[in-house]
Amino acid sequence: MLYLKNLDYHPAASITPILKNINMELAPQQMGLIIGCSGSGKTTLLEILAGLAQCSTGEIYWRDQKLTSEHLQQLGGLVFQFPERHFCGGTILEELRLGHPELRPEQISSALEEVGLDHLPLHTSPQALSGGQQRRLALAVQLIRQPHLLMLDEPTAGLDWSMRKQLVNLLAKLKTHWSLLVVTHDASDLLSIADKCWTLNHGHLQSVDPAKLISTNQTEVASLK
Ligand SMILES: Nc1ncnc2c1ncn2[C@@H]1O[C@H](COP(=O)(O)OP(=O)(O)OP(=O)(O)O)[C@@H](O)[C@H]1O
Ligand SMILES: [Mg+2]
Repeated sequence: MLYLKNLDYHPAASITPILKNINMELAPQQMGLIIGCSGSGKTTLLEILAGLAQCSTGEIYWRDQKLTSEHLQQLGGLVFQFPERHFCGGTILEELRLGHPELRPEQISSALEEVGLDHLPLHTSPQALSGGQQRRLALAVQLIRQPHLLMLDEPTAGLDWSMRKQLVNLLAKLKTHWSLLVVTHDASDLLSIADKCWTLNHGHLQSVDPAKLISTNQTEVASLK
């Protein structure tokens, strides 16, 4: 269980705090969805939860353990927005092994199986994959580390309708094994699989019922874009 308690982020370079008194809880095998417009602080929050930036005040816990940035780096796996732009391996195998030369073949095949890429030859270039397959590979790169919390920044951005649908189905499967936290400005595809939902508005996080967002007004969600 992930807990955030009264978390603020106010870097020196910013006049106002970017994240303000954030409180949230996310249980294992749940998907949390944070919806916010551009500049609302979504990526910043994920960077803090991935241990890449440090909150100014507040606490982060996994169960009853208070977490430092080092703990968060081990516990979390962050899939950046447009992760395919950061691929540096010449083959699928190289991409998965980057920073993990010790990986056993069965760990590699199990991560690829989890994301539905196990049918591809390991010497395939990441650049030769479709957009949806590249997103799957980026997920496998994180899953191979067996993180407790898998975070995704705008996972459906830039994908066509059918690839978005496939990715949503994959996330629905992955949440049966991991806790997922997804941030997006466009919740339309992801709402149906979210267990918990929040809106982020100028750094303020507010809980909303995903079922209510689906049933009441899809256009209202669209207007958050
Ligand atoms: N270290 C920092 N110093 C100053 N300002 C920062 C810092 N980090 C983030 N910001 C500012 O915080 C705000 C939120 O940025 P963030 O990238 O988290 O937004 P976002 O919700 O992910 O937006 P988008 O949907 O465009 O990706 C922006 O105005 C950004 O310029
Ligand atoms: Mg962002």
